[in-house]
Amino acid sequence: DFPSYTDGLVEASPGGYITTTQVFAENAENIYNLKPRPDDVFVLTFPKSGTTWTQDLVWLLMNNCDFERSKIPLVIRSPFLEMNYYVPKALQEKYERDAIVSKMRLPAFLVDLMYRFNIMDVVRPAVMKIMNLVVGEAVRDLNQLERMKSPRVFKTHLPLYLLHPELLETSKVIYVARNPKDVIVSYFHFHKLMNQHKFTGDLESFADYFMKDRLYSSPYFPHLLDAWTKRHHPNLLFVFYEDLKRDLRGEILKIGRFLGKYPNEHQLNRMVEHLRIDKFANNKSVNFEHYRWLNFMSPDGRFIRKGKTGDWKNHFSPELNARIDDWMKSNLKDTDLSFITEL
Ligand code: A3P
Repeated sequence: DFPSYTDGLVEASPGGYITTTQVFAENAENIYNLKPRPDDVFVLTFPKSGTTWTQDLVWLLMNNCDFERSKIPLVIRSPFLEMNYYVPKALQEKYERDAIVSKMRLPAFLVDLMYRFNIMDVVRPAVMKIMNLVVGEAVRDLNQLERMKSPRVFKTHLPLYLLHPELLETSKVIYVARNPKDVIVSYFHFHKLMNQHKFTGDLESFADYFMKDRLYSSPYFPHLLDAWTKRHHPNLLFVFYEDLKRDLRGEILKIGRFLGKYPNEHQLNRMVEHLRIDKFANNKSVNFEHYRWLNFMSPDGRFIRKGKTGDWKNHFSPELNARIDDWMKSNLKDTDLSFITEL
């Protein structure tokens, strides 16, 4: 039942290691050296901590609450720094293809041939102009990140210690943390959902893999504590998922102040509405339903699942809960970091 992606352990200096994919291992140095810009924003998280939610929130703030453009898939608007770029490319092409077929009334096979023989790469700007179509420009490789227009909003699950050494001196970083009990449950469901993981074990064994740092992006505590110790840095904002749940409006304003963005009352109301779990789960640009037609995701279950704090109570046996409490206690003993585990 072991998740299949744990094919690389990357050593990094300074600060430690991460369990990661081979693709990242091959690119680690290039990513470490990617030059940060003063107007870049990095949404940095351990997986399942509210990344997508915060990423769309930040993108809206950085783009003057352009709800029209926010319909472009988030993976195109805001690159996932260390992941392979197949998804945004495939998604951009699907959107373009469907629009070209329906708007220009061209036979589908002809359009498919244009992609097949890379003709689209040449004629894309003209076609987009003729159709007045905005699908965004997908980042297809790491080099393209250098050419991407500012302001760039990145998603990354890399810990600070694997990112450019001058990142904090240069760009803004928003670190989102979520209590580990809900992260474990959310990550467990994600591993069942994703075809590439196809995790077949139970929650008990999954939690063991989690606590033994065997899962993608592990280890969890060094990831968090590295950011926690830097939380007073003027370019780092440490945000809790549970605070977003408790007071979304207040957290939008706080993140806005950090970024120097001040939405007006109307924009703020719209943002709160847009980011509410029920709306968000049905928003095609963020809910990862495209993973299904890419055959990455099983037919059952959803990427945006419950969005609750305290769901672990529906999953943990008293014994498992006690073991996780011990693990948390031993990892938190030298810090003043604490978590809210129920609301
Ligand atoms: P659950 O699996 O507990 O429901 P990430 O984006 O880092 O992968 O995090 C995914 C988690 O954030 C999922 O948790 C998902 O439901 C939750 N989430 C996503 N959008 C949310 C929203 N608008 N409000 C509350 N939780 C949200």
